[in-house]
Amino acid sequence: MSHPHPLRIDIAAPSRAYPVLVGSGALAQLGAALDAAGFGPSRYVVSSPTVMGFWGEPLHQVLPDSTPIVVPDGERHKTLGGVSRIYEALLKAGADRSAGLLTFGGGVIGDMGGFAAATYMRGILLAHVPTTLLAQVDAAIGGKVGVNLPGGKNLVGAFYQPSVVVIDPEVLATLPRREFRAGLYEVIKYGVACDAALFGIVMRDLGPLTRRDTGALSPVIAACCRVKGEIVAGDERESGGRRVLNFGHTVGHALEAATKYRRLLHGEAVAYGMLAACAIACARGVLPAADRATVASAIAQLGPLPPVNDLSAAAQLEFMRHDKKVHEGRLHFVLPAGIGVSQIVTDVSEDELLRALRELGLDE
Ligand SMILES: NC(=O)c1ccc[n+]([C@@H]2O[C@H](COP(=O)([O-])OP(=O)(O)OC[C@H]3O[C@@H](n4cnc5c(N)ncnc54)[C@H](O)[C@@H]3O)[C@@H](O)[C@H]2O)c1
Ligand SMILES: [Zn+2]
Repeated sequence: MSHPHPLRIDIAAPSRAYPVLVGSGALAQLGAALDAAGFGPSRYVVSSPTVMGFWGEPLHQVLPDSTPIVVPDGERHKTLGGVSRIYEALLKAGADRSAGLLTFGGGVIGDMGGFAAATYMRGILLAHVPTTLLAQVDAAIGGKVGVNLPGGKNLVGAFYQPSVVVIDPEVLATLPRREFRAGLYEVIKYGVACDAALFGIVMRDLGPLTRRDTGALSPVIAACCRVKGEIVAGDERESGGRRVLNFGHTVGHALEAATKYRRLLHGEAVAYGMLAACAIACARGVLPAADRATVASAIAQLGPLPPVNDLSAAAQLEFMRHDKKVHEGRLHFVLPAGIGVSQIVTDVSEDELLRALRELGLDE
């Protein structure tokens, strides 16, 4: 089913303004979107075997003359080695500075392909065609690209905005159920942290959204892109306002690290992190108990989260001390003050954190 008019959101990042096109059937308009974004005839598609297996043929129909560069995805492949493979394929195919690179996959492919585009010959044109819900609502917007080092996640990277982002929710049909849900937790993050109307729509349409009805998905994805776009326009390099998007991420990152990135998907860890932030905010009297219950119920309705009750609360504190969100010894924490309203604080004490983690069921 194709819709002739995708929704268009304009992202006004200081380093580059670009459109995000969202809609069922938007993939069919990719060629025209690349033309409009200034792409020349030399076009490379960075993707993964999984994504190409499901969607390679429809993509080929739309971009018959593009050159595929297929690299493995999954977090453990988001490395400089993966980026090297992309450089080598570009070089071998004779790509010069007039080449354009398109990422077609989840956040791993977007971050890795984006970093290759940012650095190959000091930068070539980039477009993102995200194929996971997480990448559609988050990773493809805002220009953060990069890879992991053995010593930690996202330690090497750049800010490099794409020239266009094309989002077709039809491609989500093949996404594993857990991956899809993990993306929905990030959608809830946007709603609770900064957009009450979005949160209301998500709650109203939870049925069609979880059935992946593209008519319900398109406006919600577009709303997330709009929120992220507005924040990025005001704070491209994450020195201030962009940090509200870290709601749920302080505790979330600790839980991911504590379970060696194997037990929890990122969105699932963020769901726990949002519950912890709500517990702290509620204990401080910043967040009304009714709002905390609303957030908890939204998260519960999306389905079960992997258990964390065998983890030690004290060990999580240790992980948080090593987080990038620590600035001059202070842990930045996003606390909700209501649905759609949040504040960034730097004075959350270890006692408050421990109490919140125990409320999540973690061990002493
Ligand atoms: N740049 C940013 O601002 C930003 C923001 C958030 C997250 N990220 C990064 O994104 C990454 C996570 O992204 P992700 O959750 O998309 O994970 P991912 O890219 O690993 O994709 C998850 C899985 O889904 C598969 N897949 C992708 N599209 C599919 C489809 N349409 N049908 C079936 N399977 C499909 C992939 O092969 C993979 O196995 C992390 O590395 C994270 O650091 C970046
Ligand atoms: Zn996240």
